[in-house]
Amino acid sequence: MNHTPKRYTITAALPYTNGPVHIGHLAGVYVPADIYARYQRLQGKDVVFVCGSDEHGVPITLKAKKEGITPQQVVDKYHAIIKQSFEDFGISFDNYSRTSAKVHHETASAFFKKLYDEGKFIEEVTEQLFDEEAQQFLADRFVLGTCPKCGNEESYGDQCEKCGTSHNATDLINPRSAISGSKPVLKETKHWFLPLDQYEAWLKEWIVVGHKNDWKTNVLGQCKSWIDDGLRPRAVTRDLDWGIPVPVDGADGKVLYVWFDAPIGYISATKEWGEREGKDWEPYWKDEDSKLLHFIGKDNIVFHCIIFPSMLKAEGSYILPDNVPANEFLNLEGNKISTSKNWAVWLHEYLDEFPNQQDVLRYVLTANAPETKDNDFTWADFQARNNNELVAVFGNFINRVTVLTQKYYDGKVPQPGSLKEIDEQTLKELRAYPEVIASSIEKYRFREAQGELMNVARLGNKYLADEEPWKTIKTDEERTQTVMYVALQIAQALAVLSEPFLPHTAAKLNAMLGHTSQNLTWSQVVDGKELMVPGHSIGQNELLFSKIEDEQIQQQLDKLAASKKENEAMNATLTPQKETITFDDFSKLDLRVGTIIEAEKMPKANKLLVLKVDTGLDVRTIVSGIAESFSPEEIVGKKVTVLVNLAPRALRGVESQGMILMTENADGKLVFVNPDDAVPSGSTIN
Ligand code: MF3
Ligand code: ZN
Repeated sequence: MNHTPKRYTITAALPYTNGPVHIGHLAGVYVPADIYARYQRLQGKDVVFVCGSDEHGVPITLKAKKEGITPQQVVDKYHAIIKQSFEDFGISFDNYSRTSAKVHHETASAFFKKLYDEGKFIEEVTEQLFDEEAQQFLADRFVLGTCPKCGNEESYGDQCEKCGTSHNATDLINPRSAISGSKPVLKETKHWFLPLDQYEAWLKEWIVVGHKNDWKTNVLGQCKSWIDDGLRPRAVTRDLDWGIPVPVDGADGKVLYVWFDAPIGYISATKEWGEREGKDWEPYWKDEDSKLLHFIGKDNIVFHCIIFPSMLKAEGSYILPDNVPANEFLNLEGNKISTSKNWAVWLHEYLDEFPNQQDVLRYVLTANAPETKDNDFTWADFQARNNNELVAVFGNFINRVTVLTQKYYDGKVPQPGSLKEIDEQTLKELRAYPEVIASSIEKYRFREAQGELMNVARLGNKYLADEEPWKTIKTDEERTQTVMYVALQIAQALAVLSEPFLPHTAAKLNAMLGHTSQNLTWSQVVDGKELMVPGHSIGQNELLFSKIEDEQIQQQLDKLAASKKENEAMNATLTPQKETITFDDFSKLDLRVGTIIEAEKMPKANKLLVLKVDTGLDVRTIVSGIAESFSPEEIVGKKVTVLVNLAPRALRGVESQGMILMTENADGKLVFVNPDDAVPSGSTIN
């Protein structure tokens, strides 16, 4: 969009409703989206900021099965918790809806029906994976198996979390059922497919050409790679009993695919908001002068950049996203955040332990935001940023200004004398900040923007340190009044400019400065208007931030250490013995001693090495998923155990002719099952 938009439609990924939200969600999606939405509102822009709970899909039914409750009970529980966390952290949604809402069922059904009626789907009977033990078709997260792209053995049916590829469950190598663990069979069933191949050329033009300069490189990179791999028709229905029923005849027992219905949830949430507020929702989604933005994490890129836009295009009456500023992931103390391993900082728990310190977390997550690469959250950094930045810089400046104003002038803004060069210069610098911060926000560089906000506080601190009103008060009344007047202007500017980042702090600061509400807009700070008028009475002093002690940090570290220990104990429980096999079964395996003679990385795959192995019989190629545990150099010359009569299979286009036996050490690093070095290649193992 090259001109000024008339309105902003801002969406934040609908969280799955099968667990609470943690700092990774906040850092990757909700805080940046909230900063952006609050900033545009402060600019006086027409904004609708929507989100809601993503309540369909397989993980929710799996969770319900595990806990012996209904899927509805699962989503009711977590919808309430998630909604509360967002409120607590000041995520300023205009509407937080849910996909089990009636308005959403209607909207998603109608959307499907329109595409169906206009012949935008392909109807096809295909073979899908079926679990004979559970008597159920297996889609998406009901299936686990090896990713055909990167070799990750724990890939889900719909998406590999390791390499981010989205695929069909039938693409998995060695699929297994997440319900019974059994090997699924193929069974025929009818489904509707969105022919993404037909949108390929258009997507390429729209994204790769049209947005090459304004979309983030991490987003463009993923899009290009999918488009280059070639897009295929994608099923938009599933055989499941939890979800939105497919609204056509002959579709009993079928529901809309969760990734078909969920993004339509953005539209439903806007409708629901419109009905409540008496506003017309349609221009927010259909007028070309509206700027549509999707804030998401990197695992959602394909859905928001390829699939949902193709759906919108097929429907025909909607606008497309102007940008999809996806973030990378946040790690915690060096490890991937994991719900199942309880390696996370849960928002509701944080609030119990750091009451009223939401803004501290917002601040640290933005300062460390995974904007261009994965980043790490550590408690030591959390403490340091609070104590050295929020307390020592921001809080300290405000405290000095308000305390001195109370002390010298009984809380009234003093009348300034004539301004000196340094005063003019300081005010001029102050007035430049809103533009600087705004330009970073407009480019979705929130950590840079927040860094500049802190520079405003630094400007104030430096000014006070240089002008020393606590000294001049004894010698020069008028000079002191001028200095305090200037300092108060800076304090007031901070109250305005900090609002998108630190909304609770901004509200507190406004009250301290004697305002009942946020009374200034962003541009008034630039205009050079007098922000604090002489004679105005400021309010009661309060501390904006307080020091975080070592004990509090230690407690958090102890808590994580306990999670780790619990996990190790859980992993240490041995895998149970497999079912008995006959001697004949065993003798089918042809295991040999081999020597690795060459090794190189498979291009564009994180886990795979392409090996040349001397098996004694021949030298053959074996693709092995060990690249994260070994560098190619360190394994050349190693003796290994090889299963040589395994049926060959292609991984990333390279035929792998056998398998190398591996085990895992306590740190999760793979290690070879090593024969003695003296045994020659080709020796049989039995
Ligand atoms: N629930 C998905 C996730 O957590 C995100 C859904 S975003 C929407 O990854 F577009 F579908 F709404
Ligand atoms: Zn993968």
